[in-house]
Amino acid sequence: MTGEATDWADSLKKHLDRASSARIYDYLLNPESPNNYAIDRAFAQAQLDALPDMQKAMRENRRFIGRAVEAALEHGITQFIDIGAGLPSQGQTHEVADRVAPEAGARVVYIDNELIAHAHSEILLGRNADPNRHKAVLADFYNHGDLWRKVLATEVIDPTQPSCLLMTAIVHFMPPEDRPDVPMGVYRDRLAPGSMLVLTHVPDDPTDEGLQAVARAYSNTANPAYLRTDEEFAEFFGGWPLLEPGLVWTGEWRPKTERSQEPWWDEDTDSTDGQPWWEGSPSRMLYRAGVALKP
Ligand SMILES: C[S@@+](CC[C@H](N)C(=O)[O-])C[C@H]1O[C@@H](n2cnc3c(N)ncnc32)[C@H](O)[C@@H]1O
Repeated sequence: MTGEATDWADSLKKHLDRASSARIYDYLLNPESPNNYAIDRAFAQAQLDALPDMQKAMRENRRFIGRAVEAALEHGITQFIDIGAGLPSQGQTHEVADRVAPEAGARVVYIDNELIAHAHSEILLGRNADPNRHKAVLADFYNHGDLWRKVLATEVIDPTQPSCLLMTAIVHFMPPEDRPDVPMGVYRDRLAPGSMLVLTHVPDDPTDEGLQAVARAYSNTANPAYLRTDEEFAEFFGGWPLLEPGLVWTGEWRPKTERSQEPWWDEDTDSTDGQPWWEGSPSRMLYRAGVALKP
């Protein structure tokens, strides 16, 4: 094998040796999805034993993304940069945008640093998307120069116009010692005025034993967890003003009476008898969400 092929094989092996957040999430969003592996499914099932709400919370996070994409379109934003996008198979940004505003011709670049997720993304986009408007890029959030270059090279994003930058369910994989604040600041600077930043995270709760057990378990995956307070999380917005209602649990961000119901989601993930599944305990949603606008 050439050096390059050996590097690729080593890298692939590393990605397949451990469960990955992209594929765990893909499995929990849709247990029928063919895009994950036995190691991911076994890990996900073990976490559900510790934290049974995890699956519903992930789906609620996905619903929030849909409403945030709609809010961006209402602000006239038609280009989306989705870092840590995972697998674009379950109610993803381009599907929501094309469904709620087909006339907008929204453009989306998905970015992930996980080889398998990226490879599946390319296949799925090849089947279900518009190759002129929807692209997948393999790049790492921390390598901001490389990532931004690759995003611009797709020619899908016009950096002089406002974009919506999504970074959902990813910052809780970024410990402060890795200095995620540095690339985050670079991306905020590069976005045109009027751009939108959409973030979610799982906040720390030392009293929640299930959550702590899951966070510990993730240390054996490709994506060890680091849970923050909301105050620490808010720093990712860099002082941009938050849209109403501010930083809240995902299901509380501009909820709709008619909740998006995807065919692959179990009925019990939706409201029952008019009551949402978290039954008066919004912290069961696990993810906090916020949307900010660049002045
Ligand atoms: C839990 S998934 C979230 C998927 C999607 N954003 C959502 O909220 O529905 C987290 C994703 O972030 C990706 N990721 C983690 N660290 C990353 C990094 N440094 N650069 C790019 N992607 C990263 C993982 O591979 C995974 O696909």
